[in-house]
Amino acid sequence: MATGGKACDMTIILHGRPPAVFDPPAEAIQTSPLIPGSAPLEDLPPGSVSAAMVYAPPGVLERRHTLALALRALKPGGRLDVMAPKDRGGSRLKKELAAFGVAVEETAKAHHRRCIAMVTDALTGLEAAIAAGDLQWVDPVGAWSQPGVFAWDRIDPGTALLAHHLPSLKGAGADLGCGYGALATVVLRSEAVTGLRLVDLDRRAVAAARRNVEDPRARFDWADARTLPAEGDLDFVVMNPPFHEGGSEDRRLGQAFVRQAAGMLRTGGVLWLVANRHLPYEAELSAAFKRFSPVADTGGYKVIEAVK
Ligand SMILES: C[S@@+](CC[C@H](N)C(=O)[O-])C[C@H]1O[C@@H](n2cnc3c(N)ncnc32)[C@H](O)[C@@H]1O
Repeated sequence: MATGGKACDMTIILHGRPPAVFDPPAEAIQTSPLIPGSAPLEDLPPGSVSAAMVYAPPGVLERRHTLALALRALKPGGRLDVMAPKDRGGSRLKKELAAFGVAVEETAKAHHRRCIAMVTDALTGLEAAIAAGDLQWVDPVGAWSQPGVFAWDRIDPGTALLAHHLPSLKGAGADLGCGYGALATVVLRSEAVTGLRLVDLDRRAVAAARRNVEDPRARFDWADARTLPAEGDLDFVVMNPPFHEGGSEDRRLGQAFVRQAAGMLRTGGVLWLVANRHLPYEAELSAAFKRFSPVADTGGYKVIEAVK
């Protein structure tokens, strides 16, 4: 990869996981908020990076935010190499980059569009794009959130249905895939809840949840919920599990969440979950729980209570 800079002062960043056909750099600082432990792109000093490869996210505000942050982090002469599937933002990349004042070379490969741009001093519009995609107060939701976070500017109907049916919970529990904290806020209305662990793979979701859930009983983990220690000591778990990985439906994700919840609960502990009606979680629920029952089935969603 050409980087424009001396080997000794080359900082290379990689944002996300581009397909291998794009030859992602092996030695690079990972900056995706969806990879726990990565470095926040927004924290990189302006002009500190020699080259960046960005697997651009699909949402417009999120993508422009990411591109603007990468351009700000690059040195003049630095190289930005961006790609996205053609139908998930790829066909807009060239225009979006040109609007930041960079000259762009575009190619097509493996159903993606790839754009390469060299950074100059003539960048424009970065701060506005960064602000538009940043953590922000969202009035219709009544919460802090950020473009890219699940249902960032609306209340998800599945979440609303589960919130409506949740009883007053007791003891210690977890919210797996907490998003910006919509379910956690409802759970913590019960004074009998002694502690709640909010877990999400998305750093932006965890940051928003911290702002939204100012309760000393809450603690926050930026982590893959599937890798948490399953200590079998929780009284309850709530979740609206994810079922998309890299843009396509992956039922195994939600199924793994069901098994993970079972491992974290004590015998007699309860799982409250909401899912799109067509998602097949019943086999996992049967295998890992003593009993489970549908509590609601409406608007394309099902709410299930399962007792371990
Ligand atoms: C359907 S959303 C629900 C969000 C929130 N609980 C709500 O109801 O609004 C699923 C959440 O799981 C998160 N997620 C996806 N994969 C995850 C994983 N492996 N570990 C933890 N969280 C994950 C997503 O970032 C997303 O916030």
